[in-house]
Amino acid sequence: QLAAAVVPAAGRGERLGPGAPKALRELGGVPLLVHAVRALARSRAVGLVVVCAPPDGVAEVVSLLDSHGLDGKDVRVVPGGASRQESVRLGLAAVPEGTRVVLVHDAARPLVPVEVVDAVAAAVRAGAGAVVPAVPLADTVKRVEPQPSGPEPVLDTPDRAALRAVQTPQGFDLPGLVEAHGRALAEGVEVTDDAGLIERFGGRVVVVPGHEEAFKVTRPLDLVLAEAVLARRRA
Ligand code: CTP
Ligand code: MG
Repeated sequence: QLAAAVVPAAGRGERLGPGAPKALRELGGVPLLVHAVRALARSRAVGLVVVCAPPDGVAEVVSLLDSHGLDGKDVRVVPGGASRQESVRLGLAAVPEGTRVVLVHDAARPLVPVEVVDAVAAAVRAGAGAVVPAVPLADTVKRVEPQPSGPEPVLDTPDRAALRAVQTPQGFDLPGLVEAHGRALAEGVEVTDDAGLIERFGGRVVVVPGHEEAFKVTRPLDLVLAEAVLARRRA
């Protein structure tokens, strides 16, 4: 049975600076969202892609996706929400009941290699309830006491060898993720990734190797890097 993918794409992209919503900004002349949906559609494990569009941009996203060929995959567009978590919850509601494996992938990670998509889906199919791709950290990390301005006191330095930077697509058993999102809504729990909800409610999450090209386009420099990666692929 094929997996469904939910693509939160309703963010404004404030850290990228002024302009269109981030998912609609272009990379190599093609919107980030189209790159991300294509990356998922390229996987033979994925049968359906649900895009969570900016709430006022549903029609625009529909016509955008129509105008780019998407390997004959089933693509649906729903309005996203005010937070990433809400967007994902709304996207999950559009996934057909009876689907077993769901992937959640940021539109802001346009260059994820298909091998990562396949590996995450395979790990869920093999029985893991929640799977996240991740990479080791390059920088040493310090925990601080955040200050509005001025120097911040360091509390400690976690052992870098045990830290991972997590990416998407994250993969889940569909009923488990739907239940976690419902419970988060009821209890007012907010986290920054879907696996975080599973953890919060006592579920088991495993990490599989991610890929450096699955980085998130967040700040202007990330777009420069993404353009360079794309140019290298096309060369
Ligand atoms: N996202 C979403 N709905 C929201 C907020 C974010 O679907 N209300 C999506 C974004 O479109 C993005 C992904 O979640 O694909 C990861 O979020 P992030 O990188 O933070 O994107 P933005 O929220 O758009 O950026 P910023 O935080 O800089 O405004
Ligand atoms: Mg954001």
